[in-house]
Amino acid sequence: MAHADIERVEREGLAALAAIDDLAALDDWRVTWLGKSGTASGLLRGIGALAAEERPAFGAAVNTMKQALEGALDERAAVLRAAALADEMAGDAIDVTLPGTRPPQGGLHPATVADRRALQIYAEMGFQVYLSREVETDEMNFELLNMPKHHPARDMQDTFYISDEVVLRTHTSPGQIRAMRAYAPEPIRIVLPGMVYRSEQVTVRSEMQFTQIEGLAIGPGITMADLKGTISNFAGRYYGEDRPIRFRASYFPFTEPSAEVDVRCTCGGEGCKLCKGTGWLEIMGCGMVHPVVLKNGGYDPARVSGFAFGGGTMRTQMLAHQIDDIRHYWANDLRFLEQLR
Ligand code: DAH
Repeated sequence: MAHADIERVEREGLAALAAIDDLAALDDWRVTWLGKSGTASGLLRGIGALAAEERPAFGAAVNTMKQALEGALDERAAVLRAAALADEMAGDAIDVTLPGTRPPQGGLHPATVADRRALQIYAEMGFQVYLSREVETDEMNFELLNMPKHHPARDMQDTFYISDEVVLRTHTSPGQIRAMRAYAPEPIRIVLPGMVYRSEQVTVRSEMQFTQIEGLAIGPGITMADLKGTISNFAGRYYGEDRPIRFRASYFPFTEPSAEVDVRCTCGGEGCKLCKGTGWLEIMGCGMVHPVVLKNGGYDPARVSGFAFGGGTMRTQMLAHQIDDIRHYWANDLRFLEQLR
């Protein structure tokens, strides 16, 4: 039994302590090294083997060593407690500065976006929005627009019949009659957006339902020049001033004379697949309201005249955004819808 034993016990005790990394194990260590029948006390039990004069110094040295171990135990416990607290805090941490999870947000449908863009321009020109029904009578959709039963022009619009007399409107033009009847004999200047339906084979270029915007202006002295001015102004704002447009003579039963409006194709006029080599893309039909239609709406063709126009808005948007398939519109694929809202 010698002082060397005391040093050895201290060294080994400290080494064992340093290897402990959880609080529960510290207690076992305390029992093993500092407890009543622990290693340090064991040294004291052997004290009887020493010469009487060596005993006090030996006992004191053992006590000093025990104090050193106790001090080290306290220190180790403090370190482990701090680490446990830090662990717990890290686990429960809430960083209030992190952005939250946003709930998915809906948006406007591309067809609505297209309509609103055009309506905005017409509104700035003084047109009011007039809404009309999608389920129409055959009379409104055709007859009062100068297309009696068996008129060949009906073939241009394959129709969904609900009954012999009721149809899904094939164009927004019947809204003209409803607006005229609501306002005659006052002058009117309206635009009429909405969904129309045709019993068509669905292809890349044609859908069974699509959106149109109809325009109608009626009043004393309205001429074809007003029509051309209005549409040229619209096209300039919608497609840009430098995009050429042209008016091409055409036929519609409800206008006389009638025209179709073309805008320069995105190919710049050289001719491509999109414009089928013509250099032009049709955007709407238009004309001076036929006297019979004015009369059907409640106006006196001898006192007022008017112009009308109408065309699909989805197609226009397709051209502007290089959308190559009209079927995207109703396919409900968010990857498409989210791009244009
Ligand atoms: N309703 C016609 C269609 O859907 C388009 C049209 C042509 C509307 C001439 C008009 C117009 O108002 O004057 O094909």
